[in-house]
Amino acid sequence: MTSRNDHLAFEIERLGPWFHNLVLDGIETAPNHYLGNYPATKWQRFAHSIPERLDGLSVLDIGCNAGFYAQEMKRRGAARVLGIDFDPTYLAQARFAAKINQLDIEFRELSVYQLKRLHETFDLVLFMGVLYHLRHPLLALDLIRDYAAKDMLIMQTLQRGSPNCAEVNQNYSFDERSHFDHSGYPKLHFVEHYYANDPTNWWFPNRACTKAMLRSAGFKILNNPDPEVFICRIAEKPPHYGPPHFPQDDLHD
Ligand SMILES: C[S@@+](CC[C@H](N)C(=O)[O-])C[C@H]1O[C@@H](n2cnc3c(N)ncnc32)[C@H](O)[C@@H]1O
Repeated sequence: MTSRNDHLAFEIERLGPWFHNLVLDGIETAPNHYLGNYPATKWQRFAHSIPERLDGLSVLDIGCNAGFYAQEMKRRGAARVLGIDFDPTYLAQARFAAKINQLDIEFRELSVYQLKRLHETFDLVLFMGVLYHLRHPLLALDLIRDYAAKDMLIMQTLQRGSPNCAEVNQNYSFDERSHFDHSGYPKLHFVEHYYANDPTNWWFPNRACTKAMLRSAGFKILNNPDPEVFICRIAEKPPHYGPPHFPQDDLHD
């Protein structure tokens, strides 16, 4: 006769490989993760920046993977937590893990480019570890601002290049070029082929670029508790932003 733990271990193995190391009834889903106990170690670096209680609030976790952050938001009392991801294998993990941990979280197969389909905005939007996996990162931020975010955004992104942030003028004359070569000027580094053997890594902003893209999409950065994590609130878009750039009903990657 197999024990409950044998059955659980079998299911975890069957649903793998896992990117999130979750603890399900004492069994870790990714104990040998190349980043250590991930994303728990990352979470510990900014957990204090989010209200301890989220009672009554709605949360959207974009690119939720196996639902680590969605689970943490539910544990803080969020009334509604929705996790979306475009990969059904991760969503199967997320549903299984939430069920084992007895957390009431909804998961839907949806791309960030399809946010308009939700017809819903959220008090808190998490956008963790997804930006650099997108071919159209600024479009994703625009769509989050236009269709999903009601108040707060928490974004994490890998960054490469200088951590410096240069003062950027409102305007430069046509002949001015030297600022483009400053290490602290906003830069998005394009990966045509592979980075870290991963063909889904497309763009790595430097720190100045992450901040500039967030501002440009209509977010005010309130806090930056970890170099990769930005706590934001929705704000006015820049005056020259203009009308929505992509009025189509749905966009696909
Ligand atoms: C590096 S993992 C980050 C997972 C989790 N958010 C975290 O921070 O630990 C990137 C996740 O984004 C998802 N993803 C990538 N492109 C996406 C898209 N266009 N729409 C929705 N999810 C996407 C992947 O399937 C994957 O689960």
